[in-house]
Amino acid sequence: MAMNNVTCIEDLRILHRKRVPRAFFEYVDGGAYSEATLRANRDDLERLGLRQRVMVDVSGIDLRTTILGTSFALPFGLAPIGLAGLQYPDGEIHACRAAIKAQIPFALSTASICSIEDVAREAGSPFWFQLYAYKDTGFVRALIERAAAANCSALIVTVDVPVFGQRHRDLKNGMSVPPRLTLRNAYDTLKRPGWLLGMMRTKRANLGNLAGHVEGKDNLASLGAWAATQLNPSLSWKDVDWIRGLWKGPIVIKGIMAPADAREAVRSGAQGIVVSNHGGRQLDGAPSSISALPAIVQEAGSEAEILFDGGVRSGQDVMRVLALGAKGCLIGRAYIHGLGAGGEAGVAKAIDIIARELATTMALCGVRTIAEIGPQVII
Ligand code: FNR
Repeated sequence: MAMNNVTCIEDLRILHRKRVPRAFFEYVDGGAYSEATLRANRDDLERLGLRQRVMVDVSGIDLRTTILGTSFALPFGLAPIGLAGLQYPDGEIHACRAAIKAQIPFALSTASICSIEDVAREAGSPFWFQLYAYKDTGFVRALIERAAAANCSALIVTVDVPVFGQRHRDLKNGMSVPPRLTLRNAYDTLKRPGWLLGMMRTKRANLGNLAGHVEGKDNLASLGAWAATQLNPSLSWKDVDWIRGLWKGPIVIKGIMAPADAREAVRSGAQGIVVSNHGGRQLDGAPSSISALPAIVQEAGSEAEILFDGGVRSGQDVMRVLALGAKGCLIGRAYIHGLGAGGEAGVAKAIDIIARELATTMALCGVRTIAEIGPQVII
């Protein structure tokens, strides 16, 4: 299949699987343990029926909306994804460029391949920066200062990784700490020369935000091992208070699934919350994120902007998420499939597919603006 025959996100997923070595594709595609939560994220979204309405003038559909005080062309953005620059050379720069052209938010992960400074210089800013609050507070403080210096417009503090959820596929594929190069991996990589040549040509093949900032660790394996020791199981709301004191802009807490935690996030001064189970990659057995959304909107929706992620693969899904009260949503795998399939053009394709689906879905549900989307569109 060529890019011009792509009509949906699943097509991009198929191209991604063909182009990128299996270990890296499965790192994206998989989830924790039995992958029950990963599946629930999709199943529960698809189960929500949309109400067809007719004879409403839908000649002027408007997809614009405001998130965290900024006007965007679409009500969704690109979620923070670690190691995106291993799916496609300089991947984060490609994704950020596509997001800026489409006028939507892009969130750069702490665990990115391209550094904050590289993305700001090569793609432009502002973008959002996603923070993992590692144990090394000096490093975290410096990261926050670097994000501010690069003109990042929001800090997304991810709080659902006090420990790593175990992903069987990653362990079996050698995507572990330390990484294991198996014969099968090597053979599989040789079968994907396009990917291999691209990765050999780029100078960016390290954890860009960490390289040069951790003494004595200078490659992907040693920095990955360092990052794994830096996960902080003692993380608590006190740490968010500390971060709040260092960051002047809006703070969004990502990884909230319980109303009580949403309440704490508001108390800590967050302007936004991302209802998220990390795309089914952390607590296997957690309910779908869409099933957690309504109670969190009810608890905190009047005090913070409620964003959402988990399982969004189409404009119909964006409609469902907004109908249940989210201000906007993030797409993770949906755009990474585009990135793996074809860099910036692939990400642009993913964004365009979902935007068109959303416009069509709104027209067929008889709503013209993002503000008009509400519970009435769900059956
Ligand atoms: C993620 N996610 C993630 N979240 C985060 O805050 N920092 C990170 O570095 C990563 N890394 C990451 C890698 C990969 C490969 C995936 C698939 C996900 C979680 C991500 O931001 C988001 O919550 C989910 O991807 C949303 O689910 P969907 O859209 O992928 O179904």
